[in-house]
Amino acid sequence: MIKNKPVIGILPTYNLVNDANDPYQDRASFVRMYEEKIYECGGIPIGLLHQNMYDYLPLCDGYLWPGGSKVWPDFFLVLEDALKYKKPVLGVCLGLQAIGTFFNLKETKEKHPEKSLEEVKQFLKDTDHYLKQLEDASLHNHYVTKDVETQEAARHLIQLKKDTLLYKIMGQEKVNVVSLHSFILPYASHDVTVSATSEDGVIEAIEYIKDGAQILGVQYHPELESSSELFSWLVDASYQKTMFLVNKQNPIPDSYSPNISLYQSEYPRCGEESNLSESVMYSWIQLRDFMRSRGFYIDVESAYRSTEMQRQIYEDNKAKYGEEHASIFVACPGYSEHETGLAIDVCMKIGEEWINEFDERLHACYQLLHQVCADYGFILRYPKGKEEITGYHYEPWHLRYLGSSRIALDIMKRKLTLEEYYQERFKNI
Ligand code: DAL
Ligand code: ZN
Repeated sequence: MIKNKPVIGILPTYNLVNDANDPYQDRASFVRMYEEKIYECGGIPIGLLHQNMYDYLPLCDGYLWPGGSKVWPDFFLVLEDALKYKKPVLGVCLGLQAIGTFFNLKETKEKHPEKSLEEVKQFLKDTDHYLKQLEDASLHNHYVTKDVETQEAARHLIQLKKDTLLYKIMGQEKVNVVSLHSFILPYASHDVTVSATSEDGVIEAIEYIKDGAQILGVQYHPELESSSELFSWLVDASYQKTMFLVNKQNPIPDSYSPNISLYQSEYPRCGEESNLSESVMYSWIQLRDFMRSRGFYIDVESAYRSTEMQRQIYEDNKAKYGEEHASIFVACPGYSEHETGLAIDVCMKIGEEWINEFDERLHACYQLLHQVCADYGFILRYPKGKEEITGYHYEPWHLRYLGSSRIALDIMKRKLTLEEYYQERFKNI
């Protein structure tokens, strides 16, 4: 994550070396349209090179595997990384073929562990499951220029399968896509879902959605469209470090490690509680300084809490006010957003006094805070009137960092809770 934008690594298209002696033939290239789409959708596009890629994959929050002329098995480590760290991947054209091949090879290798990678590949070829050239590619292979007319002539319809991620993103069953390819993926492993086909049965989209991983490949060319649904999806899904649901039903995921940095709050009560997740720091300081510039001297009252700390707070609250009160104001250990380091309880200084929670003097401060927090990627997590949904009493001080200011603005403008947003976004998946 750079500042508050996810980094999308774009795989290179490799030029085939015609003359091995020419040092300038051996080069990677990148197509501008992908870069522009990622940037337009709020991501930071970076180009990945071939050598030592493994060392810098940790920089990336998501991946784009664009078209090209050859599936390079070296690049499969990007898919391994995506599976391991739940980073989303969008494959386009050859990208779909690479993703499909990766899962096909994996499936065959699992069935025949004794075979080498070369043997597995040969097995796929022998069974007609490897990439193959279409005999009649007239529906699929077109010459396309920047001229819109050529692009219009290169379109064909695809049929989307309901209950798939692609259908959820596109919101329609038929899409007229621009097509330019002569190779196809003839078979998709059982691990993936074929989410779209053309009328002659060619696989037009595949997806692998499992255990938090989201890998989507399309055979057609969404970068030529003026709309950017798939790129928006990729960028939004790349906020996985900050975009996940923690509530009474969803504990902190086992795999989550908060990556905490020290934040020096001026509020004397905080002590060790003023740590923050590293990804929040930059946006929080921007929000804090904006509020201070408007006369509201805010700081962190409580941010990251260890599970032990949360247990202590819960137990203290229960002892003081009873279980019912504790259950609507304090999350049980293991179920608090504070344990992610992504939640901040805000307090404010008036003169030499720090005030917090329901103090009436905070009214104007909260009003402005709720108006602007989404610009910095935060939402008001426990709004008034939504207690039934969130399970908690109104907490005007509790902000949750989502990362994406676009998503945060959508949630705040429509007065949604994170629960409602997730329900709406993922109900068909
Ligand atoms: N006050 C919120 C619900 C928490 O304890 O996480
Ligand atoms: Zn809180």
